[in-house]
Amino acid sequence: MLSFGQVINGSSAMFKCLIQGAFLILVAIQPALGASTEAVYSDNAMVSSRSTLASAAGIEIMQKGGNAVDGAVATAFALAVTYPSAGNIGGGGFAVIHFPDGRVLTQDHREKAPGKAHRDMYLDDEGNEIKELSRSTHLAAGVPGSVDGLLDMLERHGTKSRQEVLAPAIRLAKDGFELDRYLARHINTVGKKLQDTPAGKKKFSMGDRALEAGDTWKQPDLAATLQRISEKGRAGFYEGETADLIVAEMQRGNGIISHEDLKNYRSVWRDPVTTNYRGYDVWTMGPPSSAVLVLQILNMLEPYDLAAMGWGSSELIHLMVEAERRAYADRAEHLGDPDFWDVPLEGLASKEYARKRFADVDLKKASNGDDILAGNPSGKESMETTHFSVMDSGGMAVSLTTTLNSSYGSKLVVAGAGFVLNNEMNDFSVKPNTMNQFDLIGREANAIEPGKRMLSSMSPTIVSKDGKPVLVTGSPGGSTIITTTVQVILNVIDHGMPLHDAVSLPRFHHQWTPNRIIYEKYAFSPDTLKVLESLGHVGFMEWPYGRGIGDANSVMIKDGVLHGVKDPRAEGVAVGF
Ligand code: GLY
Repeated sequence: MLSFGQVINGSSAMFKCLIQGAFLILVAIQPALGASTEAVYSDNAMVSSRSTLASAAGIEIMQKGGNAVDGAVATAFALAVTYPSAGNIGGGGFAVIHFPDGRVLTQDHREKAPGKAHRDMYLDDEGNEIKELSRSTHLAAGVPGSVDGLLDMLERHGTKSRQEVLAPAIRLAKDGFELDRYLARHINTVGKKLQDTPAGKKKFSMGDRALEAGDTWKQPDLAATLQRISEKGRAGFYEGETADLIVAEMQRGNGIISHEDLKNYRSVWRDPVTTNYRGYDVWTMGPPSSAVLVLQILNMLEPYDLAAMGWGSSELIHLMVEAERRAYADRAEHLGDPDFWDVPLEGLASKEYARKRFADVDLKKASNGDDILAGNPSGKESMETTHFSVMDSGGMAVSLTTTLNSSYGSKLVVAGAGFVLNNEMNDFSVKPNTMNQFDLIGREANAIEPGKRMLSSMSPTIVSKDGKPVLVTGSPGGSTIITTTVQVILNVIDHGMPLHDAVSLPRFHHQWTPNRIIYEKYAFSPDTLKVLESLGHVGFMEWPYGRGIGDANSVMIKDGVLHGVKDPRAEGVAVGF
């Protein structure tokens, strides 16, 4: 077993990022603004998000008669102001929407590669990856999708005007809000690099000094950009002054996003991917998300009586790890943007394929990692994000995950426009079998092409029964998003847990390669660990602070009452009315 020191010394970028995050979460656990680890109950509407002020923004609109889509769009724009490391207008995301009549649609507003992007753009002359290029430069940014996606959701399925829904975000940016200890500290540590440019320094400091807890933090440039969006809709971002500012920012740093890329960006409505798991319909995002892995893992596990095995038993953990390993092997080979790559989606999501894929699992022995190859689902031979959940009492629910990719994305602020640009290009496979920042590998399916969307792990998910939403969940956490989402679902369906326990209990994660199991403190008892080792599992890495895998802000409805739970691993709050 690896010790904490070994983990740190030999750590990948993902681990460094997780460790940094946990340190900050420890700070956040101190009584921060509105932090709550309790479940919240209400009859009419519920929002659970990483930011107390953003949850309140969503509820403000729903209290005025808005539906779950109105609440979700207001929450998402407010997150761009109050949770700037992941909430965004300069990034992208996915939303799963459940309608009162039982229909489910998904909205893909993932970023796209700019028109001048090309396959080897992050490699040197010898074909070696130049790591920082796809992570922290102007070249790292994909064409942002959030504004188009959120506005399209609102226009098609909301009931409130753009001006009403954007008002809380504009107010928060213009009038400012009081910085809590967590956010002040996060900006000055994880976001330190933001200060390297004049635009970043202007936004993320008080001019002559660093931001401090208790300061009223105002973001006038961001307020003006949001105001343009409020007045002009998508043209307020993808054309005119905002587009000019983005392109000027690109020119300052050899970036390649053009006016044409911005003008041509369109989000896409896609069919959800779904499976029935023990009588519940599970709906999640299809490619370019890899959330179909949630369904694959559930389908592989369904034949087994997990409840009888018991939460935390070595028998159950062994099965879950084996399912995760096979699903992530398929991700590397088969998943990419469906507009560019023929993803064998039906096969991947099918029960038949799951049974075949799991047929070689030995209940008494871990598989040899080298023996796990991608399967053949078609028969003919793919960190810092944030998730929130919204439900109203009328049967409408929204599960939305959004991101800049890393914390504060590329750590570049668009001068004059006041928002942070994503570094989503790192989610492409920059070279076959080369790890991205989450240690995920990919191949041809996720290679860079102009206009293509990079593969994502974001898995906003809704579980329904008899056409009514039951559970809305999802998480940030890079590659761990998928396994966090699966664990919340299993905890509710198989283990019958109340939502608070389902979200709070310790988690673990395996992603096929590297061959290691990350686990939170208390997830595995010492004798469970011994049994898992005796089965042949290797690479155990305890998450040193006992918290930190995911932030699964979830909402559930039971006997007509909405239950909202803010994941206690990080701050924020569930708000209901
Ligand atoms: N940027 C992380 C993801 O989309 O998976």
